[in-house]
Amino acid sequence: MKPLLLTALTLAGGASALAFQHQISGRTDDRAVPGTLPLKEIETALAAANAHTPFVPEGHLGLTTDLAKVIPADNPLTPAKVELGRQLYFDKRLSRDGTVSCATCHDPARGWTDCDPVSTGIKGQKGGRSAPTVINRVLGKTQFWDGRAASLEEQAVGPIGNPIEMGFSTEEASTLLNSIPGYKLQFERVFGGGANPDRIGKAIAAFERTIVSGASKNDYYEAAKPLFDWDPAEEQDAAFKAKAEKILEQEREHRMSPSAERGRELYFGKASCSLCHVGEDLTDELFHNIGIGMDKKEPDLGRFTQTKVEADKGAFRTPTLRNIALTAPYMHDGSLPTLREVVEHYDQGGRANPYLSKKVFKLNLTLQEKQDLVRFLEEALTGAITEVEVPRLP
Ligand code: HEC
Ligand code: HEC
Repeated sequence: MKPLLLTALTLAGGASALAFQHQISGRTDDRAVPGTLPLKEIETALAAANAHTPFVPEGHLGLTTDLAKVIPADNPLTPAKVELGRQLYFDKRLSRDGTVSCATCHDPARGWTDCDPVSTGIKGQKGGRSAPTVINRVLGKTQFWDGRAASLEEQAVGPIGNPIEMGFSTEEASTLLNSIPGYKLQFERVFGGGANPDRIGKAIAAFERTIVSGASKNDYYEAAKPLFDWDPAEEQDAAFKAKAEKILEQEREHRMSPSAERGRELYFGKASCSLCHVGEDLTDELFHNIGIGMDKKEPDLGRFTQTKVEADKGAFRTPTLRNIALTAPYMHDGSLPTLREVVEHYDQGGRANPYLSKKVFKLNLTLQEKQDLVRFLEEALTGAITEVEVPRLP
């Protein structure tokens, strides 16, 4: 019988080039400079043939959702809208004192996070939670650690008005954007009218939906796994044979180390990580208490703050583990500095508290097993990410 090929074969390159690239000098948004994009160029770009033609971002190997189905009908992606969203995302003028943009806390050069335990907004103010990555948010069923935003449109306008993040208001931001001819023109051409809070949210959300990642070593492995016992010599179907050989060849080119492969077995077996970190984005999209921060004097109650359901106390949304090597420190409060410490946390059965998930328990991993599991997380889950250049700004 023919093995079933579960994953579509998409050729996404660049995975290894991006892995572990962590040399950072300065913030990305420092390179987005107001006034560097002339009005004439904006006019030309907006008049281009395909500027307003809807498109669907290219998925990477390992992403099984048809992205066309998760893009809301009332906010289709067009090149002009995504470009506007990109500019807004990097523009510090959307903060009250012009010092903070979305990219300050979700920096492409830092795995789309800020690599700090908790984020710092305007005037050096610190929030209580760690900035999650913006990668693959197109797949997210809810947004934020506690799931309080249902859509990316709703999420995107939140930080602009948040007093400790950007400290502005979306109304004031709209007035400001309408006073900049290059922005005003783009809003008019893309949305048929000037900037307003709804349109700012839509443009930024459209941009965020293009930031996808996949094609990690684990994705190549998953794609090839059904073929590991397949015998090409006995294959009659030439088309199938060609496709299958291509998949196997790609897996060989992106093979994980023996240690990572052992870590993979643990992840899906003895270590039980896949009880929650599962599916194409390695998250069940559900909320669990794994004991982080519950020993604080006033613990962050997470999901409970939204639902008021007792059992949700201290529960947070399972985060994606894609590109997890790039986004230390870890957890909603950034309290675990390394993946080694994360694995240690789970090995000890999380931290005891009345709301601890039943899916977290003592693992009894050996030293070698811990090393293998960390190796898998670091090496096999890092993949190609949409490359985004820093925009010029009107
Ligand atoms: C001062 C730092 C800061 C700024 C500026 C900021 N964010 Fe965030 N962002 C965070 C933090 C912290 C969280 C998590 C908050 C929570 O879950 O309660 C977050 C959450 C998110 C999420 C949810 C991710 C998920 O996994 O649920 C998205 C998407 C996001 N931000 C996008 C943006 C966009 C777009 C902007 C600009 C309009 C922006 N952020 C500005 C710090 C920041
Ligand atoms: C009960 C479900 C569950 C299980 C089982 C589980 N996790 Fe988690 N994981 C979560 C949740 C929920 C969070 C966020 C918790 C928080 O911040 O309070 C998380 C956070 C993480 C983070 C930090 C991610 C980030 O962006 O900060 C890593 C890394 C991680 N888990 C790896 C693992 C590994 C490795 C295993 C197996 C040993 C595992 N998880 C088992 C639910 C789970």
